[in-house]
Amino acid sequence: MDLIRRSRRLRRTAAIRNLVRETKLSAADLIQPLFVVNGENVKEEIPSLPGNYHLSLDMILDEVEELVQAKVAGIILFGIPKSKDEEGSSAWAKEGIVQRACRAIKEEYPELLVITDVCLCQYTSHGHCGILEEGIVNNDPTLDNLAKVALSHVQAGADMVAPSDMMDGRVRAIREKLDQKGYQEVAIVSYAAKYSSAFYGPFRDAAHSAPGEGDRSSYQMDPANSDEALTEIELDLEEGADIIMVKPALSYLDIIRRAKDNFNVPVAAYNVSGEFAMIKAAAEKGWINEEEVALEMLTSIKRAGAEIIITYYAKEVAKILNN
Ligand code: PBG
Repeated sequence: MDLIRRSRRLRRTAAIRNLVRETKLSAADLIQPLFVVNGENVKEEIPSLPGNYHLSLDMILDEVEELVQAKVAGIILFGIPKSKDEEGSSAWAKEGIVQRACRAIKEEYPELLVITDVCLCQYTSHGHCGILEEGIVNNDPTLDNLAKVALSHVQAGADMVAPSDMMDGRVRAIREKLDQKGYQEVAIVSYAAKYSSAFYGPFRDAAHSAPGEGDRSSYQMDPANSDEALTEIELDLEEGADIIMVKPALSYLDIIRRAKDNFNVPVAAYNVSGEFAMIKAAAEKGWINEEEVALEMLTSIKRAGAEIIITYYAKEVAKILNN
């Protein structure tokens, strides 16, 4: 056959394929979520997130050491508090679980990138991400509480704060509060396009943060919408977000791509609990090759345009990538 162009020429050997590979996943792209709990000597595997644990402060440093060795980009901390109340006040307590974890980790690992999730749902008795009034999450009064949470994390040493609540105006409220207190240099990673997703199921079990009544669809985005994601991102950037996030990742690769094409800021994607759990479960049944599927999934998220990926696979995949 008289073919001038043959695509297979560049697929012929592993060396050639390596040479022309467009997307190269590395440990430095991956951020590991960690769940901190009260108590001592706690390292309990989360049933729906195999390889991920509830860790008490005395146990978390070993895990962090492993992550540092695996050269992941950083960690994002989630706290499971001792007590909950209507407002979620344990979220901004100086001696709160995340605040203590930040201090402990930063003391041992000052170089490690520590991001904190800023939200109220793990801390409120009703499980919603803001102040609940007659069944409705009241946006504006919630903002000051979120800003207090962010400030308390930064005062404890967090390098970046990541608001995940989806209240309107929260990036501005946090930015103003941090600036007032002299933390102009601390960046905000905004969960800008966060969808109301069933893929968060395993996380809510892990974080004890499922809403008692109702769901989050009056503040998180409708999965059917795409233009709205760009509006959300634009608003967060206007309010002072430094990095924007799309969440979940896998069912929203188109949104990641649009975010990347439309804004010249770093794009993060959250490969959420349900996405991770599906692979783990299928692998357990022997139905898929876990390592290959995990690498393919994470590569697709990067290829779509995310340069930062938060994933429960960070430690495991970073180790594979380093070899
Ligand atoms: C808190 C928060 C959630 C996740 C991250 N931060 C849960 C939610 O919005 O219900 C989900 C993460 C995951 O599923 O892995 N608002």
